[in-house]
Amino acid sequence: MTHWDDPKALAEIDRSGMSKLLREFPEQAAQAWKLAVDVPEFERLAICGMGGSAIGGDFLRLYLARKGLSKPIFVIRNYALPPFVDEKTLVFAVSYSGNTEETLSCFEQALGRKCPLIAVTSGGKLAQLAQENGVRLISIPPGVPPRAALGYLFLPLLKSLKPLLDADEIEEEFSETLEVLQELAVRYGEAPEAKNPAKQLAQAWHKRIPVLYGSDHLTDMVAWRWKAQINENAKSPAYAHALPELSHNEIMGWEWPEFQTAFVYTLLRDLEEPRALHRRFELCRKLLEELYQTVLEVQGKGEGMLARLLSLSYLGDWSSYYLALLYGVDPTPVPLIEEIKKRLAAR
Ligand code: F6R
Repeated sequence: MTHWDDPKALAEIDRSGMSKLLREFPEQAAQAWKLAVDVPEFERLAICGMGGSAIGGDFLRLYLARKGLSKPIFVIRNYALPPFVDEKTLVFAVSYSGNTEETLSCFEQALGRKCPLIAVTSGGKLAQLAQENGVRLISIPPGVPPRAALGYLFLPLLKSLKPLLDADEIEEEFSETLEVLQELAVRYGEAPEAKNPAKQLAQAWHKRIPVLYGSDHLTDMVAWRWKAQINENAKSPAYAHALPELSHNEIMGWEWPEFQTAFVYTLLRDLEEPRALHRRFELCRKLLEELYQTVLEVQGKGEGMLARLLSLSYLGDWSSYYLALLYGVDPTPVPLIEEIKKRLAAR
């Protein structure tokens, strides 16, 4: 019997309780939607963060761009703000712990450049600096790994920007998203493998290296999120790339026979892929099928873009969790990430 059909064995591996956090994600999304703030006028938008605190910025960028927001949006995963970030740039400094040095560095630079600034954190130095400098704070609950707080790290930002978009459409999309997530929480959390795509993905990835392909229409950063979730939850290598770029270089690596047993490819599709990307995806799938026995393909659920985006991301959360169980590792701890932070702080 696989661990995931045996609740006792499952609890022994998932000692820190990741499955509970995954199951509660729809409620987290509902709470997060209430945390929006008013935003001032701006010309550009920059979201600064790292790791689990940055991916919400990518989702925001993708979503707003697809909805036609004409303002430039940048996600900054670094210590330094680019020179174009000025007093007309709205900056969100996002750090779940509030202690990430890259994000703190960007926050201080944004203060110096008099950018309109909003901090998003559960505490730490970022909350302290925001209070000391009179910076608006979106305060989110502490106590979970940042990657399990995606709802809090993405949805308050999106809702805060609602006045720039079609407000009714966003509210409708959000209601649909909640319904879809609630349904998926039960399905991915409880259904046996035959009816559970999350378990099936984990099984297909087991003892191989997952390679995840999205497209720059909507799913490239979801593929990136899946990669990070597989790395952190399952402690497994994983790689992500996106169309159309990958068809100009990466595909040359498919041919080498020795690698064909090492990698397993998963395509992250979307029902509104533009025609050119759709054709490239189809051709890539055909080529992969000719070379590999298994090519996996997945798509988000729901009609609205928000539901499709978050439901696809949620599938990666669950499948990386099940992969951790197959490897017999507790999904929650990330000791090497902690170690790097500790060694940097000691210098
Ligand atoms: C995710 C994780 C990391 C952190 C990143 C930044 O669970 O542990 O990816 O998100 O190291 O830390 P925070 O989010 O606290 O700013």
